[in-house]
Amino acid sequence: MNNFTYYNPTKIEFGKEKEKNIGEYLKQADVKKVLLVYGGGSVKKNGLYEKIIDSLNKNNIEFEELSGVVSNPLLSKINEGINLAKENKISAVLAVGGGSVVDSAKSIAVGAKYDGDVWDFFINKSQIMEALPVFTVMTLSATASEMNGNAVIMNDETKQKYSIASVLLNPVVSVINPELMATVSKEYLAYSAVDVIAHSIEVYFTAKVHPHFNSRIVESIIKTIMETTEVLLENPNDYNARAEFAWAATQGLNGLTPAGTEGGNFPNHMIEHSLSALYNVAHGAGLAVVIPAWMKWYKEQNISQFKRFAREIFNSDDENVGIEKLEQWFNKIGAPITLSDANIPKEGIGSLAENAYETSKVWGMDKIYSKEIIVEILEKA
Ligand code: NZQ
Ligand code: ZN
Repeated sequence: MNNFTYYNPTKIEFGKEKEKNIGEYLKQADVKKVLLVYGGGSVKKNGLYEKIIDSLNKNNIEFEELSGVVSNPLLSKINEGINLAKENKISAVLAVGGGSVVDSAKSIAVGAKYDGDVWDFFINKSQIMEALPVFTVMTLSATASEMNGNAVIMNDETKQKYSIASVLLNPVVSVINPELMATVSKEYLAYSAVDVIAHSIEVYFTAKVHPHFNSRIVESIIKTIMETTEVLLENPNDYNARAEFAWAATQGLNGLTPAGTEGGNFPNHMIEHSLSALYNVAHGAGLAVVIPAWMKWYKEQNISQFKRFAREIFNSDDENVGIEKLEQWFNKIGAPITLSDANIPKEGIGSLAENAYETSKVWGMDKIYSKEIIVEILEKA
């Protein structure tokens, strides 16, 4: 196990009805005025919006609103939020939604404290030195954005889907009430499951040093996600399954699984972001297409870990069976597993590879993931 620093300053408030206390959590942090950020309307349909407003009012927290954040969130919407925050002396950003809403809130939090173009941070032109505090009420569990400092957004002009990371963006408080997730569509439940599995396996397969303890946490996350997804597809209101799914998802990308590992990276995410950027595919759907193809391409480079995966997750000694069974499971829960399933034409591979290669450079992975290699992987999809 390597040396590491693990610091995660996010306070999690987990469980039934916790969202009703959001006003108190903000008040305790001395917040006077928030920018409330949400998506396309699910929070209004299921009554969560009223509960949040009620809690803010009871605690004398003033607020402005930014609605209409879309999945694969857009820089143009974030700029709207930054202007609102600057014009209205906002002292914190409150995200109510899934990863897209939280990532937008984080980007606004950075932009509100910066005089230049917030995109500078995404292309490494500027370093994050300051941000407004971020609070979240999660309505969908997948990304672990509720407990990490990452934000991934899409520049709608340049079609680049890039990310930022800073501990300053770790939410101060995140509310995770699994009950709020009962209305998530089966489609997005499946995409969320794939996303959590993706977060878990990226470093698991690519790290040069990967302690057994870390492998066991990852395997536990994967098994929990697979079991609970199957329960939830049958019964979306199963609270315990929803709760275990949500907490496993949070552990998937909050810094726990890679602590003590060395040399891991995120090739599946790197390639997937181009599917989302160019074809507006949901993140988890794109991952379900990329992962089996990448596994087939990569397996020889870490054969013992692929054998371990097959054994621990699918009770087989054959690494190829592990890959096949995972692919079949993605298919079974309703995720696309080929480019054509995701309505992406074969002719699109070239421009996808060009787009992904740019990300590969920004993420410092271009020595391995050249344009030609990305084409080779996508051809297996
Ligand atoms: O907009 P509304 O109406 O709220 O609908 C949303 C949206 O259409 C809906 N939804 C959310 N909660 C719901 C609900 N519908 C009914 N009931 C509820 N309770 O679900 C749809 C998808 O929401 P979205 O926020 O896009 O999903 P997710 O949480 O999967 O976030 C995906 C985004 O996160 C990024 C992805 O790239 C993608 O842009 N990621 C963020 C990461 C991070 N910050 O650490 C890491 C990830 O790897 C990922 O890249
Ligand atoms: Zn992801």
